[in-house]
Amino acid sequence: MLTSQRIFAYLWSLLVFPYLAFASLDCHSLTIPVHVNVEVPLIDIPVPANQSVVTNILQEFLTITANFVEDHIIGTQTVDAHYQIFGQLCSPHGVGSGATLEIATHGVGLDHTYWALGGDNSPNNYAASAVNAGHSIFLYDRIGTGQSSKPDGIQQVQVGVEAEVTHELVEFFRAGHANVSYDRVVGVGHSLGSFITVAVTESHPGDFDDVVLTGIAIDNLPSVLIAGATIMPTIAAEVFPRYHGLPNSYWVFGGFPNYQILMVKFPFFSQALLGISFANEGVVTLGELITLLAPTMTTASAYTGRVLVVTGAEDFAFCNGDCSQIVTGTQTAVQAVQNLYPVASAFQTFVPENTGHSINMHNGAAAAYAVIESFIGA
Ligand SMILES: *[C@@H]1O[C@H](CO)[C@@H](O)[C@H](O)[C@H]1NC(C)=O
Ligand SMILES: *[C@@H]1O[C@H](CO)[C@@H](O)[C@H](O)[C@H]1NC(C)=O
Repeated sequence: MLTSQRIFAYLWSLLVFPYLAFASLDCHSLTIPVHVNVEVPLIDIPVPANQSVVTNILQEFLTITANFVEDHIIGTQTVDAHYQIFGQLCSPHGVGSGATLEIATHGVGLDHTYWALGGDNSPNNYAASAVNAGHSIFLYDRIGTGQSSKPDGIQQVQVGVEAEVTHELVEFFRAGHANVSYDRVVGVGHSLGSFITVAVTESHPGDFDDVVLTGIAIDNLPSVLIAGATIMPTIAAEVFPRYHGLPNSYWVFGGFPNYQILMVKFPFFSQALLGISFANEGVVTLGELITLLAPTMTTASAYTGRVLVVTGAEDFAFCNGDCSQIVTGTQTAVQAVQNLYPVASAFQTFVPENTGHSINMHNGAAAAYAVIESFIGA
């Protein structure tokens, strides 16, 4: 009797103690001013007059013989701009110099809260798992989303500009402006946020010691076309009162079924977290969708840090629902990410089963987090 009570108490402590550690997750809001000066694609599409024009853009993009992206990038331009970047800095108690900082960049239809789903005690809360592993983490709203600046959705809210914003955040933290001097900075991305993190490793190879790219795969154009069709872009200002006043280049998903099919794999996700994320739905811009597909993504030929790719086995956005499909002779679309990293000191992949695109919403999130935090290490 006593023995079984002890066993029960022990098992109970295993369950409870990790969450006790999360219970007082120490986060504070920061708004960081950044200045970017960067050359990016010039897109010759005017702000769409109405939804009919947006739907036509999608139809032209999906037309089988079209070269939509190449046809509409007509050169380069310099974006010289100041933005305010809002985020949350979460840290283990008493974190001092020498610490590791993760910088987390979210994907489309989301904002910084993707990294803190379900509250402090939730096994889906990525920030809590990072802090519990002894890391600080800055989860922020990309330009165009949440409480960060919302500039031109065609010429400014683009992958290249966003990579420069992320670079400026790295500089801010490395310079000790958050009152801690971080020794290691790790880039963590999801979906578009992973492509932005890749772009930083291309343009500023010294920024990140390591990168963790989630919800990413490449060289699978059919998947990207289907994903684009699935989003069914809809003018954000016409759907949500909170987006009134944004230009017609800011879009949301067509509706909840569109959101579900892209974000998660049925039934292995939390309906509540998908619902909360949809209620808080973030935007995607015309500039982001075009530059995501622009042939500007080369290789991170000078990045010598380590790379971990974590993509759900049933990712719909970039694997067309099956990441075991071979896309480039011998590689899957997840393995193909290695081609971007010819001199990385390590390249690893983790492809969790029963998991769709937005890993953090799935029942297997905590297991994926354990792999990620152990990769990042102390
Ligand atoms: C949308 O804008 C286009 C271009 O200005 C115009 O031709 C079309 O009639 C408009 N459609 C609607 C439904 O207002
Ligand atoms: C850093 O410390 C200064 C002085 O105490 C304080 O005003 C500032 O808010 C701190 N910055 C951050 C990011 O915590």
